[in-house]
Amino acid sequence: MKYSPTSVFLLLLLFMNFCNCSLKSSIVFTTLGRSRYKFDIYTLPITTTQSSPSISQHHHELKLTDGVSVNFNGHFPTNSTSIFSLLKKPNFFESSFSSSEKFEVIYVSERNGTSSVFFDSVLFADDDSVNRPGYRSALEIGVSGRVQIPLLGVGSENGGVTVSMKDRPSLVGEVLVYVSTHENSGVPRTSWAAVYSTHVLTGLTRRLTPVGMADFSPAVSPSGIFTAVASYGEEGWGGDVEELGTDIYVFLTRDGSDRVKVVEHGGWPCWVDDRTIYFHRRDGSDGWWSVYKASLPRVGRVTTESVLVERVTPPGLHVFTPATSPGNVEFIAVATRRPGSNYRHIELFDLKNKQFKEVTRPVSPHNHHFNPFMSPDGTRVGYHKCTGGDNGEKGKGGGQILLLENLKNPVADVSIFRIDGSFPSFSPTGDRIAYLADLDDGFLYVVDHDGSNKKLVHKGMAFTTAWDPVRKGVVYTSVGPNFASESSKVDIIAINVDDDDLSYKKLTHGGENNAFPEPSPDGKWVVFRSGRSGHKNLYIMDAEEGETGGIQRLTEGPWSDTMCDWSPNGEWIAFASDRDNPGGGSFEVFMIHPNGTGLHKVIQSGLGGRANHPWFSPDGKRIVFTSDYSGISAEPISNPHHYQPYGEIFIANVDGSGIRRLTHNSFEDGTPTWGPMFLSPVDVAQPTKEAKCLFEDCHWLNIKKKLGLKTAVDASTGAQC
Ligand SMILES: *[C@@H]1O[C@H](CO)[C@@H](O)[C@H](O)[C@H]1NC(C)=O
Ligand SMILES: *[C@@H]1O[C@H](CO)[C@@H](O)[C@H](O)[C@H]1NC(C)=O
Ligand SMILES: *[C@@H]1O[C@H](CO)[C@@H](O)[C@H](O)[C@H]1NC(C)=O
Repeated sequence: MKYSPTSVFLLLLLFMNFCNCSLKSSIVFTTLGRSRYKFDIYTLPITTTQSSPSISQHHHELKLTDGVSVNFNGHFPTNSTSIFSLLKKPNFFESSFSSSEKFEVIYVSERNGTSSVFFDSVLFADDDSVNRPGYRSALEIGVSGRVQIPLLGVGSENGGVTVSMKDRPSLVGEVLVYVSTHENSGVPRTSWAAVYSTHVLTGLTRRLTPVGMADFSPAVSPSGIFTAVASYGEEGWGGDVEELGTDIYVFLTRDGSDRVKVVEHGGWPCWVDDRTIYFHRRDGSDGWWSVYKASLPRVGRVTTESVLVERVTPPGLHVFTPATSPGNVEFIAVATRRPGSNYRHIELFDLKNKQFKEVTRPVSPHNHHFNPFMSPDGTRVGYHKCTGGDNGEKGKGGGQILLLENLKNPVADVSIFRIDGSFPSFSPTGDRIAYLADLDDGFLYVVDHDGSNKKLVHKGMAFTTAWDPVRKGVVYTSVGPNFASESSKVDIIAINVDDDDLSYKKLTHGGENNAFPEPSPDGKWVVFRSGRSGHKNLYIMDAEEGETGGIQRLTEGPWSDTMCDWSPNGEWIAFASDRDNPGGGSFEVFMIHPNGTGLHKVIQSGLGGRANHPWFSPDGKRIVFTSDYSGISAEPISNPHHYQPYGEIFIANVDGSGIRRLTHNSFEDGTPTWGPMFLSPVDVAQPTKEAKCLFEDCHWLNIKKKLGLKTAVDASTGAQC
């Protein structure tokens, strides 16, 4: 059979339709610390002896979630007995086991590469054969010991998927109330976090937060009528990364109407009854995070003036993220950071005697415990902590971690992965990845994209990686401390990672913060930033000989130009700069021709915002970058430490149009890279010797002991660049 020119043309058309003429590719990025999170939800019983609550001597701590992915921000549903009939599922636990404990818990889970809300019903049976004092085994009865139901579906959008962060869910009766970030606020640097309600039976979903505003940390009142949130109102986020300085608003859960500000300055509300809210704030005069109580008037208009606010917990320790149970006027549950302790623990606070009772320290002294919640009858406290070891203990690990965790994302031709490290880059063919292992003191590794052939190629603190596009196996990096001043000792080296002796060549010599090397596509030049003039500007040097083989200045001015990437066609260099407001903390993405002409701004995240670390797509038509473009998504105190909790990964066309958000979480995402190979969207696991729980509590909760205990002092101001 012969093909006529027409049929060849038609075949070509057909093929073009199939491939849609854009090649599939992959993005890899970093989320500070997240690969080592292994959160699960636990509970301890509270026994009320006479007037004072305490935790049972025998520490019957039970793990409620299944250890898959990370599970956090739990909630015991109110009026939950109806959930099975509601979901038309048989409640097969009811009859079969009499001497057993059953729990129902709502929580956020990041399993399957996306944030979602789950409901679990878990059964624990007493095991009489284990009869040790102070110990009772919690026997999970195989598959039938757990019913697990995702409460929110993943929708679809233009053939891709809708992804969003979910936060602080609660289920009251038939209605799930939670935070989601799936709607673009439409304004740069304005959070996408908004409160929604979903009827679990019908799936009917309503936005309760007014369009253009952001709400965090919702809590539903015991009657279900009211919802309280932390919100900026109309002022918006100003870049805070510690306390958000939000106010507390109350509205009708039904439809978000009758919204009224009840407290100036507060977050993380919770209700005792429909007129009484507990919340936290950092005290303006003594600096201690403390829990406060707001009593709403029983009659008349509710305004910030008519609401009575009293401080509940004393200065001298940080107390935050309160939890209540309906009608409980005896005690609340809180998280604390005490002077002299490096760990965040859950405690009860006796409202009558004004005394704390430790909950988690006797059970797991060296773990951080987050975000307590109480059972409606006040007999249980729940929280999440890291399963799999103490926090901060090096070398006490084992098992598997995800080297590359696949995340669902809305762009169909790109698969995206979170790497257990930072500053990743792909080899020219995309089959290998170089990255820095943060937990291993910033040492440089290369690994095949399937996780095999992992090799340590540079011992010593380094940052950024880039592969030479022509000379096989050559990787550039900068060696020395990151986030450092213009004069710090940082120099650029080139390593041939395929050499047995892994010797490297120093390309710069002065140690004047020479960093972020990126080769030209013909492999002849390397663009980098240097502080040699007293300011961080961009320079181009010979790729093989380094600065001794010729150097040319690309940008000049009293500001910071940094994080550069060379376009695949060689025509442009993209970089981040604070030149519009030197030293002011804001960064924008610019492009310039390698000959110094054509300078223009591509991405700006509002006024005073950050857009950093641009990287070209393999076809040169788009860039990926990290930014605070979508504001902040949760109260930072509800998470472990993140320097820049607003950091999310975005892509845009090279002219700055068509910005799309790829990641949704309340953590710090950064250092993205874009490779030419499409990695299939599945996790790549790896054995590890390191502990799973190597992360730290918020640095700004650390208490400097020397200065006395009168005032709480920040150990760190957090964000830096
Ligand atoms: C989610 O992941 C689990 C394994 O963790 C797998 O068994 C399940 O099929 C996945 N579900 C979906 C919808 O991909
Ligand atoms: C919970 O159930 C009780 C008794 O059935 C009812 O009075 C109350 O209104 C319910 N609360 C909610 C939030 O549905
Ligand atoms: C600078 O480079 C660009 C792109 O390579 C080119 O279009 C332009 O003509 C060059 N300008 C000068 C003055 O060489």
